[in-house]
Amino acid sequence: MADLYQQLSEELDRIDHQGQLRSLVSVTHHDRGEIEIDGRRYLNLAGNDYLGLAANRGMVAGFYKKQTDQNLLECYGLGSTASRLMTGNTGPYGRLEEQLRTMYSTEAALVFNSGYHLNIGILPALAGKQDLILADKLCHASLIDGMRLSLARLIRYPHLDYEAIERLFSRHRENYRQIFIVTESVFSMDGDTADLKELVRIKDRWQAVLYVDDAHGVGIRGATGCGLAEEMGVLDRIEILTGTFGKAFGGQGAFVVGTRVLIDYLLNTARSQIFTTGLPPVSVHWLCTILKQIPQMQTERTRVAELADRFRWALQEEGLRTHGSSNIVPVLIGDAAATVTAAERICAAGYWVKAVRPPTVPAGTSRLRLSLNAAMEWEQLAPLPGIIKASLI
Ligand SMILES: Cc1ncc(COP(=O)(O)O)c(C=O)c1O
Repeated sequence: MADLYQQLSEELDRIDHQGQLRSLVSVTHHDRGEIEIDGRRYLNLAGNDYLGLAANRGMVAGFYKKQTDQNLLECYGLGSTASRLMTGNTGPYGRLEEQLRTMYSTEAALVFNSGYHLNIGILPALAGKQDLILADKLCHASLIDGMRLSLARLIRYPHLDYEAIERLFSRHRENYRQIFIVTESVFSMDGDTADLKELVRIKDRWQAVLYVDDAHGVGIRGATGCGLAEEMGVLDRIEILTGTFGKAFGGQGAFVVGTRVLIDYLLNTARSQIFTTGLPPVSVHWLCTILKQIPQMQTERTRVAELADRFRWALQEEGLRTHGSSNIVPVLIGDAAATVTAAERICAAGYWVKAVRPPTVPAGTSRLRLSLNAAMEWEQLAPLPGIIKASLI
């Protein structure tokens, strides 16, 4: 047998040589969008806590106090003991799914352990050999892994190119039982958005199924926080609409909303739902608490949108390249090594910013991905465009 560890360390050397070796850092979260690493405070632009809920110490403290005061031990357990279909479906789950159902006005909702679990579970359960998946080229890795696990044929269309989808339909529609269009709503590395109205029109025209991963839209977009589909007026026109709780909801887990038959089918067939231990009751109960507040958080949603517009404008004033229209703001640099150097310099100035390089994004499009949230103030952000510009010299 060849030496496994020798092989692995050679592989790690190769990754290191390409400047892509990653490691974990220990982080403490503070208010105002700040984190502490190795005793130093940074403004955190690399997180996804878009409404500032996960790091809101007052809210977290209030949540625990209420549980202790009311002796709600059932809700505060730390382990669910089994998968949901065995004995892991603790009380808060039913309440959370009922809340989601009401919020989205759908027949049913199903909670998964994470967005990753959800995305690797849904397509393998729904799409078989007789089916075709058309997916945006920039879909998240979890969606891609789900497509790879599915037996359906996969074609990836150029990012946001809906004429390309139409051409694919005219070429392939009659050869397949179902065709699934798969897209993110707000794209996680570019901060731009899918035209969900146009996608609904296309899928109706071709009698296809639309699967929208609204991970970066739920909570932060739409008048009541139901995400980009709500904002674009197509909430009830999407067959498979999903979101994660790990971003704007400041928690853990993910959900899909849809018809009763879809949800019953997924509960019975999605392997990443069936073969894993349920979430801790305390996590699900936190989500029930948060979900009640999301519709009322329009002030926060507007504030983040305004912050992002102002920030994007300030970057352009410095001659920096950015795009998109959300609170995810990329700064395009291009060269991977230059992006890493820039990120290091910006961190040294007290801003926690990560370089995003291939294979996460296409070669030549390395960037800084900055995500803004409701806990931040403009005064904290104002110096950053100048610091980024200086980091590139
Ligand atoms: C578009 C998209 N879908 C799914 C996920 C995974 O969600 P989770 O972090 O809940 O596993 C992410 C995470 O970054 C994402 O960006």
